[in-house]
Amino acid sequence: MCGIVGYVGPRPALPILVEGLRRLEYRGYDSSGVALVNGERTVAITKSAGRINVLEQLLDYEHATATCGIGHTRWATHGAPTDINAHPHTDQTGRIAVIHNGIIENYRALKTYLAQQGVEFQSQTDTEVLAQLIGLRYHGNLERAVREALLEVDGTYGLAVVCSEEPGVLVAARKGSPLIIGVGKNENILASDAAAIIAHTTQVVYLADGEIARITADGFKTTTMDAAPVTKELEEIEWTLDQIELGGHDHFMSKEIFEQPAALEMCMRGRIDPHTGSVHLGGLTDCARELTRAKRIILTGCGTAWHAALVGEYLFEELARIPTETEYASEFRYRNPIIEDGTVVIAISQSGETADTYAALCEAQDRGALALGVVNSVGSTIARQTDAGVYLHVGPEIGVASTKAFSGQVTVLAMMAAFLGRRKHLSQPGASQFLEALSVIPRQVEQCLATADQCRAVAERYHERLNWLYLGRGFNYPVALEGALKLKEISYIHAEGLPAAEMKHGPIALIEEGMPVVCIATNCAQYDKIISNIEEVRSRGGHVIAIATEGNRGIHEVAEQVIHVPDTLDPLQPLLTVVPLQLIAYHAAVLRGCNVDKPRNLAKSVTVE
Ligand code: G6P
Repeated sequence: MCGIVGYVGPRPALPILVEGLRRLEYRGYDSSGVALVNGERTVAITKSAGRINVLEQLLDYEHATATCGIGHTRWATHGAPTDINAHPHTDQTGRIAVIHNGIIENYRALKTYLAQQGVEFQSQTDTEVLAQLIGLRYHGNLERAVREALLEVDGTYGLAVVCSEEPGVLVAARKGSPLIIGVGKNENILASDAAAIIAHTTQVVYLADGEIARITADGFKTTTMDAAPVTKELEEIEWTLDQIELGGHDHFMSKEIFEQPAALEMCMRGRIDPHTGSVHLGGLTDCARELTRAKRIILTGCGTAWHAALVGEYLFEELARIPTETEYASEFRYRNPIIEDGTVVIAISQSGETADTYAALCEAQDRGALALGVVNSVGSTIARQTDAGVYLHVGPEIGVASTKAFSGQVTVLAMMAAFLGRRKHLSQPGASQFLEALSVIPRQVEQCLATADQCRAVAERYHERLNWLYLGRGFNYPVALEGALKLKEISYIHAEGLPAAEMKHGPIALIEEGMPVVCIATNCAQYDKIISNIEEVRSRGGHVIAIATEGNRGIHEVAEQVIHVPDTLDPLQPLLTVVPLQLIAYHAAVLRGCNVDKPRNLAKSVTVE
């Protein structure tokens, strides 16, 4: 979603801003713009709808000597993605420029008030209202004007403001939308995402909700909305630059699919001991006793994280025998959920910034639940809000279609389930067997990746078919959902995931000659039942693409194509079966000429409701 970059220091700001915007492209956007404070009476704005390449053609690098400026990628909420609606927005004097992530909820009332004061608006955006309000409150002190304006604002914001009368000053404020200050040598970089910072520095400060920062080349000052000073700790970002670069791959999605063995190794490192059947999750140490008394677990998240939660539901019930439910975060928050004593809510999020998941988490906390997080992005909003949690440690995920984060989420949930299981009903040999199987998963994922050519062949044969079904049972039902989501997200093919047996209760009507139906038919208690489901598909002309375990009885007779994955315990199969589905979706999107890493209409982290 929207991205923010700001720079103040000795270097020309423009190339740094544009490079930062490029690093934020993965989040999804539909227009972009920059504002430079160059000593003129007004700030210099360049902005346009479309990709950053379009913006670049309008920029005059040669004459852009300003050393302070802001840049933005916008994902339209209020007003269409046009040149005028792109950020930055200015007040009507042109002195003040604002970029903003989030939503100003009372913008209509503020707009009416500002119009009464004689303000004329250029755009349809809520952000311009904010820029005009700051302009009206400006009497020579930008920080004070921002503070005063924000006191009149309802809504969420991550915001950066510059003023032509205060060159060398960036003012930033945060409520519900992340902002990070990268602290360099005689320069500071503001961004909504660490990806725009790490090329310059790994020393950062995370702004908290309700904080305002005044940033100059040689330092920054943070205060609360009431102007009380706040002392911030410098933190180190663990990411490295090569983690957010393509490293020889055509797309981040393919890079991240192939990174999965290493990512899962990192995720499990030092956390499991198959010999003793024990799991060490540092983030849970302080709440281990409370967790042991858990009577009910609610897993919540959105999109792929919700699919990982569904696998988690099976894992917690199987290993820890604790009743577990999965809820869409967007539904949970508005559903008046019942939270009794002993309820643990686990919020799952790659980015740690998803607005619905964050709101669900806060709702759970307000109702007295112990709230845990399973998050990838260290220091993110959700990670900070939880009572405790476990990081994925799979490295940054840039591709919009989530791949290694899904595997990481399932792996963390598997470790948590075993951790809890050992405190409940799971025997030491039972835990040892489970963890042994988990520990070899990275190597088995390698074997799954070796099916890439077969997956490409499937995509080559079927990428022009616009309706696909994905079927799975038990632990593999969420994988069917995830496989279908991947295909939809990046190749714009309609796909539906179903519990295999449910197909005959309606969706079977869709099956016609040659329709691709991906069936997950691995070794498991219901294998024979799955074969029956496959027969039902075949007899209606559907083409079955089976994801099967090596040596599965009779699969070649019923399936058009068979892709083999190694054998593992039933609860861990999702970590293997998902890999060919990721690869099929990837190749289908490439063959269809789609923009794999930046699919239309999607954003990497959805920070609005
Ligand atoms: C968006 C993305 C999905 C992602 C979901 C949850 O909808 O497009 O790919 O699964 O958000 O994201 P999170 O960062 O909370 O895991």
